[in-house]
Amino acid sequence: MRRLIAIAAALAIAGFSFLLWPRQGAIVIPENLASSDEGMEARGAYLTAAAGCLSCHWDKKNGGEPFAGGRAIESPFGTFYAPNITPDRQTGIGDWSDQEFVEALLHGIGREGENLYPSLPFASYAGMTIEDALAIKAYLMTQPPVRRENRTHNIDLLLMWRPLISGWRLFFFDGPVAETEMHAMSRGAYLVEVLGHCGECHTPRNFLGGPDDARAFGGARLGESAAPNITPHADGIGSWSRDELVTFLKDGTTPDFDVAGGEMAEVIAHGTSKLTDEDRAAMADYLRALAPQAGKP
Ligand code: HEC
Ligand code: HEC
Repeated sequence: MRRLIAIAAALAIAGFSFLLWPRQGAIVIPENLASSDEGMEARGAYLTAAAGCLSCHWDKKNGGEPFAGGRAIESPFGTFYAPNITPDRQTGIGDWSDQEFVEALLHGIGREGENLYPSLPFASYAGMTIEDALAIKAYLMTQPPVRRENRTHNIDLLLMWRPLISGWRLFFFDGPVAETEMHAMSRGAYLVEVLGHCGECHTPRNFLGGPDDARAFGGARLGESAAPNITPHADGIGSWSRDELVTFLKDGTTPDFDVAGGEMAEVIAHGTSKLTDEDRAAMADYLRALAPQAGKP
């Protein structure tokens, strides 16, 4: 019932916002910046790991190829299938321009100007610098092209209608973050909030599927499992030392000799294990300075 009301409400505003919303062109790439610039792909390899693209765009379990998509991403609204982001020209993103790529990743607008679903965590990536986004594209373009058609999402019929996402955007998306604001961000904030998109799982969501910012990082149910509270409270990581957090992000071992499982194992394997100790320490410092939240998911 709640979901029906939510959908009806979103539908009502979608009509307006569909017409009003800025499409392609909301992001202006500086003239002297391109994914083909020298040194971009090397930087991009690191950033692609920090942003955890492989966690979703690789159907490893079913023998898929890296970045070729197909992986099922469960949500309360149904199952999304991550698309192919290899440089294959027909089924991947080999033909995409820099502009199209940046609009998708930082703004959630697809190649045809359509709304992308927030299961691509563009609301987090919106804080990424254009340069970093283009470096990620440069790296992706060096990967082997894989021919694999994208699979249609298996979601509520009504939600298949993409203009509806405009309603969600109106509530939960402020648009790409201004460069000045990005540069004021600490390294830890950039790694946790933006690239690592840690809040996408660890922050609870309200019934419209938007993040409940008042309970940021307080832990959330993810279907059968749960992403724990990772704020510095006794219910969260309050008793973890900085070194313990750094070790966890490196190899997944917890202070009580447990090992990270489920989706976190992938976040670590494709993401945080590939980072420098310095960056992991910056993330640990950022988590330890969060507002403490009581409660467990
Ligand atoms: C949490 C899962 C998740 C993560 C992490 C993720 N994506 Fe995606 N991505 C998706 C899903 C799902 C879609 C499809 C969205 C849609 O259909 O509207 C998508 C769509 C895209 C698209 C549009 C492709 C198309 O054919 O329309 C691009 C480009 C993309 N992702 C690149 C990336 C890159 C680069 C990263 C890492 C920086 C990344 N994604 C991280 C889930 C994810
Ligand atoms: C795709 C969802 C997802 C994302 C994204 C994610 N996590 Fe997790 N995280 C989980 C789940 C699920 C667990 C519980 C793992 C388990 O049960 O073994 C977890 C566990 C943890 C724990 C251990 C907490 C405890 O009490 O055991 C820490 C710390 C953590 N995550 C930090 C992070 C950080 C930092 C990021 C961003 C780089 C992040 N997570 C991104 C899902 C996620």
